[in-house]
Amino acid sequence: MEDLYTIKWHGGKVRILDQRQLPNELVLLEISDHRGIVNAINNMSIRGAPAIGIAAAFGVVLSVWSADDTDRPTFLERANTAIKEIKETRPTARNLFWALERMRLVLTRNLNRPLGEIKKALLSEAQRILDDDINRCEKIGKYGAALLPDRAFVLTHCNAGALATGGYGTALGVIRAAIAGGKKVKVYANETRPLLQGARLTSFELLEDDIDVTLIVDSAAGAVMREGKINIVLVGADRIASNGDTANKIGTYSLAVLAKKHQIPFYVAAPLSTCDFDLANGSRIPIEVRDADEVRRINSLLIAPEDVQVYNPAFDVTPNDLIDAIITERGIARPPFKTTLSDLKNKT
Ligand code: MRU
Repeated sequence: MEDLYTIKWHGGKVRILDQRQLPNELVLLEISDHRGIVNAINNMSIRGAPAIGIAAAFGVVLSVWSADDTDRPTFLERANTAIKEIKETRPTARNLFWALERMRLVLTRNLNRPLGEIKKALLSEAQRILDDDINRCEKIGKYGAALLPDRAFVLTHCNAGALATGGYGTALGVIRAAIAGGKKVKVYANETRPLLQGARLTSFELLEDDIDVTLIVDSAAGAVMREGKINIVLVGADRIASNGDTANKIGTYSLAVLAKKHQIPFYVAAPLSTCDFDLANGSRIPIEVRDADEVRRINSLLIAPEDVQVYNPAFDVTPNDLIDAIITERGIARPPFKTTLSDLKNKT
């Protein structure tokens, strides 16, 4: 993944690697206004909680980048509209709201400065969100690598890799760091229906880095555990409540139940920007329900009767009692997460 990137600011525009086309084609989208960012998040050209947050931040920059430097009311209206519209894209990933809040704060703190300077301040903040994210992933990798045995057989779900972040990845960052530290890691990647992030993205980026990866269908997970092929389950997160309840890609909860049954440690890797300390538990995490055609079709090919009813929640919540550790950039939280996560949040 070294030559590839998920998202970048380039000459007044945002470049995004279109994840809908992977692994078949490497297509870079060049986006010049915030509506382009709204579309890219909605249609999943860019996805994964941290990457969505980074895209959101750059979307706010784009909304004012070409604005007239003398018309303050229009400038502010553009920024506020962008924040509002980007907020309405995908509801579950905490990082989206966290990044938009950071952008809003920069806007309000610089309100009285010349508009050209506000533009620059917004761009610096978005770039910092991107750079910090890579840095956080590397730290998560270091902490997480210590949890992996010397010969690790890791089952992962969805894509919590470089493609889902500014780079390096959370769960896949742990795998990268463990390998860099000399451990032997074999990865089993769940394909992750319906949008196949595991098949299309996780297997793609691990193969790019020559990491040993085997793709399985989601429903094989239990059997593969029972065959003794897995000694760690490691996933990312979209939102973590203050008690550790964790929303992640649909199917994660089932994996956690299976891991418990097979006495396999179940770890979540995520930056603290994914933690929602305002939520006491996972029951109020908003769960995105996506279009029925994502289940009825693969690409545009119909694989079910066109009029069959579909329920397509994109995420589920894994209760904290099924989670052995949450790996963050400030260290590892163990149960009781209410205390340990809050300690990490306050750690300087
Ligand atoms: O619907 P997606 O592809 O955005 O879902 C992504 C996931 O569920 C990831 O596991 C999560 O965002 C963590 S990414 C580091």
